[in-house]
Amino acid sequence: MGIACTFERAEDGMPEIVVGAGRIRLVQGDIVQAKTDAIVNAANASLAGGGGVDGAIHRAAGPELYELTRPFGGCATGSAVITGAGRIPLPTRFIVHAVGPRYSTARDAECAALLRSAHEVSLRLCEEKAVESVAFPAISTGVYGFPIARAAPIALQAAMEHLKAGERSVKRVVFVLFTPADLQVFSEALASLGQG
Ligand code: APR
Repeated sequence: MGIACTFERAEDGMPEIVVGAGRIRLVQGDIVQAKTDAIVNAANASLAGGGGVDGAIHRAAGPELYELTRPFGGCATGSAVITGAGRIPLPTRFIVHAVGPRYSTARDAECAALLRSAHEVSLRLCEEKAVESVAFPAISTGVYGFPIARAAPIALQAAMEHLKAGERSVKRVVFVLFTPADLQVFSEALASLGQG
């Protein structure tokens, strides 16, 4: 795949990849606890809140998060908007509301492109706010039904492409996976991209 990178293990044994001046790492847990400058929400096109990651982030950020997203009037699938983080404590200062596609096998290529662009736009918005660290959930792999083994390399590759360009404010991209099984899928995808 042609992206120069080094596969390492962080002090806690978690897989990590070094790309340019940046790092991509994987952890298992709740994204609300990520303690990164920005956290990415798996939102829907109306930005109206929901369950899963969206519900957890809105509960932690408080009702003011709806006030912050309302002026946007929604967000296209494959895109994202960025707001303040409401009541989520520092160092988290921003929430990126990314809208991944609802997966359908019949539209696999289109869904893959939309998932990729949701990550790309999220990372660009982080650059605009001089964010150094950002945490992503496995966008679209819950309610939206994107098979996680298909989604993982798309998400990881978007992050690698972003970091390899250099001169980026984003230096650390963390994928926060909710279950051990999801972490395993992302670990395998990261290892195989690292060999590429
Ligand atoms: N932290 C990290 N990951 C989480 C958390 C959490 N607190 N809660 C759920 N997850 C995981 C799920 O296990 C899944 O792998 O996040 C992934 C994405 O799942 P969803 O939150 O369902 O997101 P998505 O598939 O993109 O669907 C978006 O769900 O709740 C609605 O408003 C949201 O309509 C939108 C849709």
